[in-house]
Amino acid sequence: MVREVDYKTVPVAGISDPNNSFLKKPDEYPVTGDHNGHKVRAEGKQRMDGDNKPYPTKFGIHGTSVGVDWEACVADGVCMDVCPVDVFEWYLNPGKKGTGNDKVLEKGSDDWNKYRTDKCDPIREADCIFCMACQQSCPTQAILITSP
Ligand code: F3S
Ligand code: ZN
Repeated sequence: MVREVDYKTVPVAGISDPNNSFLKKPDEYPVTGDHNGHKVRAEGKQRMDGDNKPYPTKFGIHGTSVGVDWEACVADGVCMDVCPVDVFEWYLNPGKKGTGNDKVLEKGSDDWNKYRTDKCDPIREADCIFCMACQQSCPTQAILITSP
C-alpha cells in the first residue's frame, strides 16, 4: 500500500518510452554519487512533480539496471514482495523488505520532512534476472529495469 504524500508522483523517466530513459539523459540525470554498491543519479537536483510543483525531496534515482526513482517511490513495497532474487531492501529499515515492513514516518517529524516515506533501495541490483515483476507491479511506476 502506498504511503500518503503531499505531492504527486511522476513515473520514472523511460518507463513509457525507452528512448526517454534517465540513462539516456546524462545532462538531466548526471551520476552524482554511489550508495550501497550502486550509482545514484540527479541527487540534489530539483525536479518537478505531477502538478508541476517542485518535489519536496531531491534524492534522485538509485541504481542503473534497476533504477528506483526515490521521488516516485512512496514505500508501497510490492516490488520487494514479487522480486524472486531479493534485489531490494528498505532504506530506513535496513535488512527489512516488503509491504508493511517499511519505516512509517510521522507527518511533520524530522524524518518525514526529510524523506516523506521510506525508500526502496536496490542493494543487490547485480542479482537482477530482468523478470520485470517489480517494474510491472509498482503502483507509482517508480522502477525502470534496463537489461544490458
Ligand atoms: Fe517504492 Fe514502488 Fe517499491 S512505491 S517500495 S518502488 S513498489
Ligand atoms: Zn541506494
